Order: sequence, then C-alpha cells, then structure tokens
Amino acid sequence: MRTQVVIIGAGPAGMLLSHLLDLGGVDSVVLETRSRAYVESRIRAGILEASTVELLEASGLGERLRRDGVPHRGVDLQWPGERHHLDFVDLVGRGVWIYGQTEVQKDLGVARDAAGQEIHYEVADVRLHDLESERPYVTFTDAGGGRHRVDADAVAGCDGSFGVSRAAVPAAAKTTWERTYPYSWLGVLADVAPSTDELIYAWHPDGFALHSMRSDKVSRLYLQVANGTDINGWSDQRIWDALATRLGHGQDGWTLTPGPITDKSVLPMRSLVMAPMRHGRLFLAGDAAHIVPPTGAKGLNLAVADVALLAPALAGLLRDNDPRLADAYSDTALRRVWRSTHFSWWMTTMLHALDDPFDAQLQLSQLRWVAASTAAATGLAENYTGLPIGDSLRD
Ligand code: FAD
Ligand code: DHB
Repeated sequence: MRTQVVIIGAGPAGMLLSHLLDLGGVDSVVLETRSRAYVESRIRAGILEASTVELLEASGLGERLRRDGVPHRGVDLQWPGERHHLDFVDLVGRGVWIYGQTEVQKDLGVARDAAGQEIHYEVADVRLHDLESERPYVTFTDAGGGRHRVDADAVAGCDGSFGVSRAAVPAAAKTTWERTYPYSWLGVLADVAPSTDELIYAWHPDGFALHSMRSDKVSRLYLQVANGTDINGWSDQRIWDALATRLGHGQDGWTLTPGPITDKSVLPMRSLVMAPMRHGRLFLAGDAAHIVPPTGAKGLNLAVADVALLAPALAGLLRDNDPRLADAYSDTALRRVWRSTHFSWWMTTMLHALDDPFDAQLQLSQLRWVAASTAAATGLAENYTGLPIGDSLRD
C-alpha cells in the first residue's frame, strides 16, 4: 500500500486529521487497534470549546452539533454553603458546548465513510519504520492475520496515551515532563435529567465532585476517589449518597435527583508533555503527545487544536513542497499545550481535597477569590472556553 500520510489511531485526533487532510487534497490511511463500535461508544469528553465548535463547523462537521449540542454560558463553582455562577459569555464573550466525544466520533465516522476513507480497524502489531527518512513506512497485521506494509511521506501518531508513536521517538530525541496526582475520578453516566442547567464544580472536604451532562435526559457525574480504588466497593447507592453530600443536596433548596447508572469507571489523573511533537517524518498529535488531568475539560479540545495546526502543516510539506508550517508545528502546538497543561493542573489542584488543613484553606481562599474578583474569573473563563488556535500565544 502507498499513501501520503499514515495516521495511527482513529480517535478524534486521527479521524479529524484524515478529514482535514482530505479537504486539503492530501491522502491518508488510518490504522486502529480497536473496533469501530468500541471507538464510537467510548465514554469520555463532553465539553467543546468555542474554537473547537468553530473548527468542526468550518470543516462541514457542525450540522448535528448545532442541532443536538447544548451551548452553556458558564459553570458553577461551589464549596460547602456557597455556589457561584461564572458567566463566561459576560466575562470573555464566548461559552462552551455540551456535545459528547461519542457524538463527535460518530460524526467523523459518517463524514469519512462519505469520502471513502481507508480505515483499518482491529489491526495489531503496528510498527513505525525509517522515520528519519523522507520515505517512512508502517507495518501492521490486519484483523484476518495478514501482514501489511504502508509506504508514506509522513506518519501521524494519533494513538493516544498508550500508543506506539510516542515510544517510537528515541529517548535521546525527546524530553518528557510528567506529574501523577494522588487521587482518581470515579465517573458515572446516569439515565436521569441533570439536576442543574450548567456544570457544577464542587470542592468538598470529602473530595471533589462534578455534575456534568450529555443531554436533557443523561447526566454525567464524577467523584474524587483514592488512587487504586476498587469500583466494586462503590454501589450505586454509595455513589449517589457521596454526590448528594459533596454537591450540596438540600443547600438553598437545591436537590440532586438520582437515577439508573448505565456506566461506571475509575480514571487515574496525570499530566504529561513530550517535546518536540515531531521526530523526522513522524508528527504527534493529541493524547499521543500530551495528557492532562480531566478537570479543565481540555484533552479533546487540545487534540482538535493540534490537528488544526498539523493538517495545513502536512499539506504545505507534501502538497506544496513548503516545509515552513511543518517546521513550526511542534513549537506552535506546544505553546497551547503548556497553557492547557497549566490550566488543567491549576483547576485540579484548586478543587481536589488533600489531607492537609493548610492546603484546604488555600484552596478555599482561591475559590473565593475566583468567585469574587472579575479579574480572576476572567482568567478562568478565558482558559476554560479556549484560547484561539494558532500563533496567538506568541510573546
Ligand atoms: P484517543 O481518543 O485516545 O484515540 C487514540 C486512538 O488510537 C484510540 O482509538 C486507540 O484505540 C488507538 N490506538 C492506540 N494504540 C494504537 C496502535 N498501536 N495502533 C493503532 N491505533 C492505536 N477532554 C476534553 O476535552 N473534555 C472533557 O470533558 C474530557 N473528559 C474526559 C473524561 C474522561 C473520563 C476521559 C478518559 C477523558 C476525557 N477527556 C476530556 C480527554 C479526551 O477524551 C482525550 O484527550 C481525547 O480522547 C484525545 O483524543 P486522541 O484522538 O488524541 O486520543
Ligand atoms: C466533563 C469532563 C470534565 O473533565 C470536565 O471538566 C467537565 C465535563 C464531562 O465528561 O462531561
């Protein structure tokens, strides 16, 4: 097989990249270890930044998003006895959208089907070769056990946090920064109307809680739990009781309505950045290059921002024989990556309870400041709703 770009991974980064490359007249082949059904039903992100929505719309992926997505003006910040609404639209002139990653993934699947995109699902033993040459190639085993080779001009590593692409960059050619956090999230999806119009981020001495949603019939909720937590120790009743306590059931007449839980999982939290995001003809995008803890709702949005830069960079390099954007890709993307890495760390450390009374007082002081100061609230709003994609973060 021969193509211009081999894309490793059919998550949001890989699928959107194949879509944008196609719009720019560049061919690609996508390789994915999982099945299409698995990829399209994986419950993950739910918040799209304004710039993510604009990009999806501009590339013809906005129809269902505009119809079924729900625009939110802001979020509530809460701690025991107090709830404060931050209105992002008032503060920075833009909000965010509720639209599940499952839906983005399905929209991308439909668009790629319509374009006749070549995607190989359920592949195994994906290996990257000759990345430092101008003729890299990738080998893999297909679902039927056949071994294949795809020759290309470039390889896009979009295979998430546990893929092969990041590892394909030699240790001497990369720097990695990493932070693990001393807590995890227990996430549930429930068939019940959200008990709130917009998201509630709650600090509580028992641990952080988040009330999010997917639609007017489906709620998404998270609880801070200890690392290594066994999900079997959390019955549905225990989960709803903890959510009621931490989200302030009964406070000022607010009630949390429980309902049937349809999905339950525990997710560890870490930050990771690898630089540069390019090695020879291998370009990394999304979780393959960086991971953020989920508290700032940045992961999916960062993946989208990366490929929004990578698609024109690859088109310049392969179609127009102009390497300038490709040469700038890593530095340009990393400015936004580090901004989101800092914001996610900041939200995470502000909101998660630790066994330290001094830290708790600092967190509460910071929360009061964000709620009371327009300057502080504007900073949160600017980062949460997403900074523009591209070179706008240059000094
Ligand atoms: P992935 O979605 O991980 O896709 C990578 C793909 O590569 C996968 O399909 C994988 O199967 C495939 N793959 C792996 N190895 C190989 C291989 N060797 N060969 C071929 N294919 C391979 N982000 C937000 O912006 N907002 C949120 O609200 C939010 N909430 C989240 C909640 C949860 C519970 C979780 C887990 C994440 C959340 N995120 C959120 C993060 C977001 O889901 C990720 O950042 C996003 O999926 C990254 O997209 P990606 O395409 O880079 O990677
Ligand atoms: C969701 C996840 C997040 O990490 C977040 O900060 C907000 C919402 C969600 O899954 O809905």
